[in-house]
Amino acid sequence: MEKTTILVIDDETNLLRFFEYNVKAMGYDVVTGERGGDFRRLIGEREYATVLLDMMLPDANGMDLLTEARQRYPEMPVILITAYGTIDKAVQAMKLGAFDFLPKPVDVDRLNTIIRNAVEQYSLRREVKTLRRHLEPPREFHGMAGSSPPMVEVYDMIEQVAPTNATVMITGESGTGKELVARAIHALSGRADKPFVAINCAAIPRDLLESELFGHERGSFTGAIDQYQGCFERAHQGTLFLDEICEMDLGLQAKLLRLIQEQVFYRLGGTRPISVNVRILSATNKEPAEMVRAGRFREDLFYRLNVVPIRLPALRERREDIGLIVNKFLFEFSRANGRRFQGFDLKALAAMERYPWAGNVRELRNVIEQIVVLNDGERVTLELVPEHIRTFRGGPVFSVAAASTPVGSGHAPAHEADGLDRIQPFWQTERDQIQTALDVCHGNVQEVARRLEISPATLYRKIEKYGLVK
Ligand SMILES: Nc1ncnc2c1ncn2[C@@H]1O[C@H](COP(=O)(O)OP(=O)(O)OP(=O)(O)O)[C@@H](O)[C@H]1O
Ligand SMILES: [Mg+2]
Repeated sequence: MEKTTILVIDDETNLLRFFEYNVKAMGYDVVTGERGGDFRRLIGEREYATVLLDMMLPDANGMDLLTEARQRYPEMPVILITAYGTIDKAVQAMKLGAFDFLPKPVDVDRLNTIIRNAVEQYSLRREVKTLRRHLEPPREFHGMAGSSPPMVEVYDMIEQVAPTNATVMITGESGTGKELVARAIHALSGRADKPFVAINCAAIPRDLLESELFGHERGSFTGAIDQYQGCFERAHQGTLFLDEICEMDLGLQAKLLRLIQEQVFYRLGGTRPISVNVRILSATNKEPAEMVRAGRFREDLFYRLNVVPIRLPALRERREDIGLIVNKFLFEFSRANGRRFQGFDLKALAAMERYPWAGNVRELRNVIEQIVVLNDGERVTLELVPEHIRTFRGGPVFSVAAASTPVGSGHAPAHEADGLDRIQPFWQTERDQIQTALDVCHGNVQEVARRLEISPATLYRKIEKYGLVK
């Protein structure tokens, strides 16, 4: 994905070869096309480091194409190739956000300079964006709470891939938020105002799944009383999310592959080919490569669907997000149930962070709901945390709760003897320090900031990031 690729669109074959030759000589990859239609298809597949676009194409207006490219990829520089006498239009194009224009006949030195500048600007813009995001990560992104590095990477991937038509396969354990990712990709794509159709391949029996996907004609099987539009038709121009894709029967997988390759399909019992424009996203909590090896997932379909893979981290791989997520749910459920909860105390939070959460965010959410429904108070204390979480032993053991909580089962963690239990991640040291200071200073943020020798703004950010109680 990171190889520098330049897209060149020109309908004069000789000129196109000339561009291709020169851009390759500069050390870049080149993709070429001759029509506006090619341009639309090619930018639908991916973003490019720079585009060289002929302003006069037989089937499209360069200005329109420029506008489309700017909307889809605001950071991608577009250089317009202009014929003699079109300087007015070139000026207009600059106003529409073209990076520069290149007059015909083309001067090789000028071509090289413009492309170098454009590529440099593109990579700088990308770098700045990535840096900014990692320095000040969002706490939430399209309903996903979390600001840990692996989640920020997921957000980056979503933003990069959303404007394309690429098929994306989302993997991750159960409850990690795969459906949220699919919805975010749709919401950030050019298809956002078109349907998002989700179908769970594991929840529907094989025969029903087939007619759910492809639809059926009246009388095509017993029970097919009316004609029925399947998911593919309903998702036309939008996005179809195939959840639990590895559970799909092999015969259906073959049909799905054919649809993807040929872009047309038939309703069950139908004779008329139906063609649709659908972007396909899929998800699985299995390891797809293993399912291919086991013969349960067609390899050719896997490659079609896995053009861009997005892997969601398990919750225990991003423990620093637990505080944030816990508080999000605590506030939501407290509001919904008329409770007063403001946050967790440190020991309760440490227990939540230590627990391995095999069911990931979904399990965490259920636990918070249970706590809120069964109790009330200002803070969730350790006593309110369900026993299996409170007494869990075996995860990374650190923090206040581990050091001072008498535990029913009485088993000491295995690594206590070697002193490993005394090591805790920096974020947790920081978090515990801040909470302790807040408690001691009775929530006086100015005072806490002064004593911790950080700015109040930084302190506020960290309080929010860790979901601390003032
Ligand atoms: N980062 C997150 N922040 C807030 N809520 C989340 C987050 N991730 C998941 N959730 C919530 O957890 C629940 C499970 O998420 P989702 O259904 O997307 O998981 P999934 O990966 O599709 O799981 P499964 O494989 O079991 O279908 C949902 O209620 C979702 O809103
Ligand atoms: Mg799901």
